[in-house]
Amino acid sequence: MNQSLIALLSMLVFAAPVHVHAEVASSEQGKVLWLQEVPVNGESRSCTTCHGTDLTQAGQHIKTKKPIEPMAKSVTTDRYEDPKKVAKWFKRNCKWTWGRECTAQEQLDILAFLKSQ
Ligand code: HEC
Repeated sequence: MNQSLIALLSMLVFAAPVHVHAEVASSEQGKVLWLQEVPVNGESRSCTTCHGTDLTQAGQHIKTKKPIEPMAKSVTTDRYEDPKKVAKWFKRNCKWTWGRECTAQEQLDILAFLKSQ
């Protein structure tokens, strides 16, 4: 390969767009989302409706009354390890609580918040 071809190829490599827009998770925003009350079906709902306001304490399912292990990662240490479980519950709970699915960014923020507790 001659010199100018090498120079041209390296220019192309360095000119490739850099992926600068990395999604940054904000646990402060996650907390806001976690606590926000959303009117759905004539009720005011939030994630705390079942998980409670103290993440280090067990929650209680509003309908079945079954206890839910604390959401704080520091207390229930095996939380958020299984991506399938996390995705399944985000889908189900966001729909019930907010009447819609959570965006990818909202999930990142909420997870950052829950993992920091
Ligand atoms: C109607 C009751 C209820 C509400 C409201 C609720 N959740 Fe849950 N959530 C559960 C139950 C039940 C589980 C599964 C049991 C468990 O993980 O302990 C769960 C599990 C989860 C998990 C999986 C945790 C893990 O260990 O991987 C996440 C994430 C989650 N919820 C997020 C949310 C978010 C975000 C909201 C608000 C948008 C919310 N939940 C509102 C009942 C609820």
